[in-house]
Amino acid sequence: MDPEPIELGDCRLVLATEAHAPGLFGLLNDEAVAPWLGGTRSLEAVVAAILAEREHFEVHGFAPWVVLDDATDQVVGRGGLRWIELLGNREVELFYAVAPSRWGRGLATSLSHVALHVGFESVGLESIVAFTTEPNLASQRVQAKLGMVHEGSFERAGLPHVLTRITRDQYRATSA
Ligand SMILES: CC(C)(COP(=O)(O)OP(=O)(O)OC[C@H]1O[C@@H](n2cnc3c(N)ncnc32)[C@H](O)[C@@H]1OP(=O)(O)O)[C@@H](O)C(=O)NCCC(=O)NCCS
Repeated sequence: MDPEPIELGDCRLVLATEAHAPGLFGLLNDEAVAPWLGGTRSLEAVVAAILAEREHFEVHGFAPWVVLDDATDQVVGRGGLRWIELLGNREVELFYAVAPSRWGRGLATSLSHVALHVGFESVGLESIVAFTTEPNLASQRVQAKLGMVHEGSFERAGLPHVLTRITRDQYRATSA
């Protein structure tokens, strides 16, 4: 069974279904968003990602969300937590993308606060990472606002990336 939607201001976070594929496709291929996420992707790839996230939820009890506008039901963002392989380690990654019409209004930060709370207080994770390309200052600002700590730099897909991490103890200290 799908998890209950999580209310977030005038939006809600839901586990995506295939019905959200066109909206997510539009977001991820937006000309202001796609370059930050490694380029455009096909509708088939978006459907596959949704199915993979649904399986992730079945296996791990958590998965990324799509953000739906309560008034229009349109996809205005996505993000959350997922297990990944990073630099030879299994890590849980926090990631996010927001429709440009909503940039600068705190949506990525508030989604991330919910994700960290779920990850640390419900799932019981011990640490969560995030990473972004060096020029992505908006994403780095979100991570700084969350209290994520710079851990180093690495190369991915031929591009320099910045890695940040927050542990459960650090999260609890900043949210106390
Ligand atoms: C990164 C992204 C998710 C941020 O979403 P958002 O909802 O606008 O984020 P928030 O409003 O919560 O916070 C953004 C912060 O970055 C700041 N910011 C925005 N552009 C910036 C820039 N060029 N340089 C420095 N800071 C910047 C904002 O001022 C804000 O900080 P503030 O609250 O201290 O003023 C959004 O820009 C996006 O979807 N970008 C394309 C996809 C992407 O880059 N995803 C991350 C991949 S790692």
